[in-house]
Amino acid sequence: MNTTESILGKGSFSKGEIISLLSLQNRDEQIPLFRAGKLARNKYVGAKVHLRGIIEFSNYCTQDCIYCGIRKSNLSLERYRMSFEEILSTAKLIYNSEIKTVVLQSGEDPYYDCDFISKLIVKIKEEFNLAITLSLGEREYYEYEKWKSAGADRYLLKHETANPEIYSQIHNSGSLTERLEHLSYLDSLGFQIGSGNIIGLPGQTIEDIADDLILCSKYQLDMASFSPFIPSSDTPFSDVPKASLDLTLKTLAVARLILKYAHIPATTALATLDELGREKGINVGANVVMPSFTPVGVKTKYSIYDNKRCITEDASSCMPCLRARIESCDVEIDNGYGHSLYLNQ
Ligand code: 5AD
Repeated sequence: MNTTESILGKGSFSKGEIISLLSLQNRDEQIPLFRAGKLARNKYVGAKVHLRGIIEFSNYCTQDCIYCGIRKSNLSLERYRMSFEEILSTAKLIYNSEIKTVVLQSGEDPYYDCDFISKLIVKIKEEFNLAITLSLGEREYYEYEKWKSAGADRYLLKHETANPEIYSQIHNSGSLTERLEHLSYLDSLGFQIGSGNIIGLPGQTIEDIADDLILCSKYQLDMASFSPFIPSSDTPFSDVPKASLDLTLKTLAVARLILKYAHIPATTALATLDELGREKGINVGANVVMPSFTPVGVKTKYSIYDNKRCITEDASSCMPCLRARIESCDVEIDNGYGHSLYLNQ
């Protein structure tokens, strides 16, 4: 048995073993890892993919994250905000597409106060009974409490990098420690929690990515997202090369082996990095796809990175293509809510 196979045969990995798997250079060596990721997905979460409809309802942001195209210093970006009614009618499109989760995402935009978001949660539950994931960045703790009481199910708050120095270099405020405190607080409130990293940040090493994976495991995340970095032209990182596809796929496969029951998306960033990125992600262990239902009129303005995929067509007309692409990967589309699988363990 070679080294890779002997590592893959284990139930858990040391940091050194994670680094060995992430360092596999040769295609022939990577294939057993990719196959193991897919088999683990089938074993722990089934040969199924969940769809989550995302509404990116505002690109205003008080933060200035160096990598992100909607950072506040990007003055060339035209900003938009969707109204309560627009968000609600978009949630209806998600419901009509037989998708049972809505992800409400925006830049950190205080225009949407605690009350607005609470009312939105109550209304979406009343009208469509969708599972609700919030992805609104760091907010006040009392707001998380109110939104949980209003009926929100999940909260996504990516840690972006487990390396505290890189975290501080790429964010204008807050620290990794604070971010993780928010995540723990959300967890304590009973939210299903999601976090994850960006792969390919300047200065980031394979060891840092191993730390990202270990962090995700420590927090026993219900959802974990690993996005390849893609440059955005109006940011200080415009000349940073995009992430490696291989490294992204290796990270996804190792993530599946370590995190087992977590919901792991094949991200839109991965689909942007490679024409068949979504399929490749599913084939190494991902089990979630998040089509954007943001109305076409504003979708192109939610430009966290350049050349984002599928932003010129509306989601309802993209769905047949997306469903066919997913089903070409030996998986079926799960029509359930796709709640945390840890709840059943
Ligand atoms: N490339 C890839 N992912 C990015 N994100 C933000 N900017 C980029 C980029 N340039 C990711 C972050 C954020 C999520 C909404 O998008 O991880 O949490």
